Amino acid sequence: YRRGLSGLALIALSTGCANQSISVLDPAGPVGREQLSLIKLSTGIMTFVVLVVAILYLYVVIRYRERPGQENDQIPEQVEGNKKLEVLWTVVPILLLVILAIPTIATTFHQAKKPEEANTVRVHVTAYQYWWAFDYPELDITTANEVHIPVGRPIELMMKSHDVIHAFWVPSLGGKQDVNPGRTDRLVLQADKPGIFEGKCTELCGASHALMNFRVIAHPAKEFDQWVASQKNPVSTPTTKTGTDGQKWVGQNCIGCHAIENAGYRIKGKTGPNLTAFSKRTRIAGVLDNNEQNLKAWLKDTQGIKPGNRMPAFDHLTNEQIDAITQYLLQLK
Ligand code: CUA
Repeated sequence: YRRGLSGLALIALSTGCANQSISVLDPAGPVGREQLSLIKLSTGIMTFVVLVVAILYLYVVIRYRERPGQENDQIPEQVEGNKKLEVLWTVVPILLLVILAIPTIATTFHQAKKPEEANTVRVHVTAYQYWWAFDYPELDITTANEVHIPVGRPIELMMKSHDVIHAFWVPSLGGKQDVNPGRTDRLVLQADKPGIFEGKCTELCGASHALMNFRVIAHPAKEFDQWVASQKNPVSTPTTKTGTDGQKWVGQNCIGCHAIENAGYRIKGKTGPNLTAFSKRTRIAGVLDNNEQNLKAWLKDTQGIKPGNRMPAFDHLTNEQIDAITQYLLQLK
């Protein structure tokens, strides 16, 4: 029953959600589709069991109810044991479990198989409280909270945690996979169509667990190559006063924790999200739309927006400094 109820709750949750890209019922790749067919099978079996039990229950309650004129202390005929029934209620559940087990095991092994080497895109995922780092070892790119992928190719995600246990889930594409400290967990996903697919951390990991969002952005092959190239664009040296100030204040306040490639900084901070090509990100810290107003709000109140995250608020900076930092970050493309 517990599994049945959580299955129904899941469906209610997915269908009630306006954004279709976060629904397990709207799969956008082979892994998501296989998982959906398992969800349908198990929900079907559980619904069948619930119906049979409910119908039997109602039948007994109505059939054997107390009737007018009946004596209250009348003891009904006592029976004990019924071989046919006992065999029936042992064999039927076993059969149901076998029907559930065969495709579940087959799918599990099928999805764990290594995809075709040449076609695979490898991404190293590191989970932090409360954000995600994505490294492409073969492309020499690092990004955060948004992982770009080409459509139609398997993406092999090798996942580690920097601190506690997190879990990686993109409902439209597949998951969930726990991400554990001290070991590497693996998940293969694939998107068949371009789009933005919302991802969530699904293991309670601290105060901002519910805000540990990320996005999988799937592009057609050409567009993906363009994105890869854009991550390597050198950042032009600012020529305006605000620009040079921005570069300086970012250097003094941000670069200790964040890295920006090709922008002339000698230090590459590694404790916070990599900010290369920051203006291309759709969101800030996985929770705010990426625009000037939100970036300023974030810098001044990181803890109010994402409680417990490791970035302190920069409310000691002057408005001019915040302006310059914001403008500098938003021209990184
Ligand atoms: Cu990370 Cu929940």
